[in-house]
Amino acid sequence: MNRLVRLFGTSIGRKAVVAATGALLTAFLLVHAAGNLLILKGPDALNGYADWLQGHPLLWVFRAGLLALIAVHVTTTVQLTRQNRAARPLQYRQLNRRGTGLPGRLMPWSGLAILVFVVFHLLHLTLRWVGPEPARLHDAAGRIDVHALLISGFSHPFVAGVYLVAIGLLALHLVHALQGMVQTIGFNHESYQPLVRGFTIVISLTIAAGFASIPLLVLSGMLGAGGG
Ligand code: HEM
Repeated sequence: MNRLVRLFGTSIGRKAVVAATGALLTAFLLVHAAGNLLILKGPDALNGYADWLQGHPLLWVFRAGLLALIAVHVTTTVQLTRQNRAARPLQYRQLNRRGTGLPGRLMPWSGLAILVFVVFHLLHLTLRWVGPEPARLHDAAGRIDVHALLISGFSHPFVAGVYLVAIGLLALHLVHALQGMVQTIGFNHESYQPLVRGFTIVISLTIAAGFASIPLLVLSGMLGAGGG
């Protein structure tokens, strides 16, 4: 037990925690983006899925787990960054910064922006305190009309814009984070790098495209009142 506690205090232990929580959060995003795409099958499919999730006996266990994952991921990342900074002289840090691409340099900001977005997102869809009022809150079957909520929300350019900017930053965050994650599990030989880069870009773009397609389809009029 003592050994485990000591391991979590080391840079390697913390990297492993960030990688494991990041992998689970990425899995959540993949499943979340796929679930949202049920909107393409129409109101009944999306509202039925949302209703099933809302009524699930493990909903609050899942929510508590998600919250814990986010909290551990963020606090361990902050601790790791401080630990790395303290261990490196200023000159080395500046040199290292120059060698890092845009997604890498943006990591703290994209991470913070994603956190702020999640709060906005919950205020919009879970608490429904921000965003336009939908035409109706319940569908004919008495379920929350998530379909109508999304259509009315994304018909508003400001709301759709917030989502699209956040999804863009999420994609940048994921590309860099997934590369770090693959390196942490030891897949860091020079010759694998093109493969690792390709893999991380494909996963990040798949998640971003899944999310972004909904506001884009609504804004373009292909999904919604006239479109479906
Ligand atoms: C177009 C993009 C998105 C749509 C349409 C969407 C839709 C939804 C919906 C309908 C809910 C359930 C609200 C409720 O009934 O309580 C939800 C919850 C949630 N979404 Fe999203 N989402 C999107 C993007 C994202 C992104 C990019 C993230 C994270 C970076 C995210 C994180 C979450 C979280 C953490 C919850 C709370 C889960 C829970 O209450 O159990 N979503 N989203």
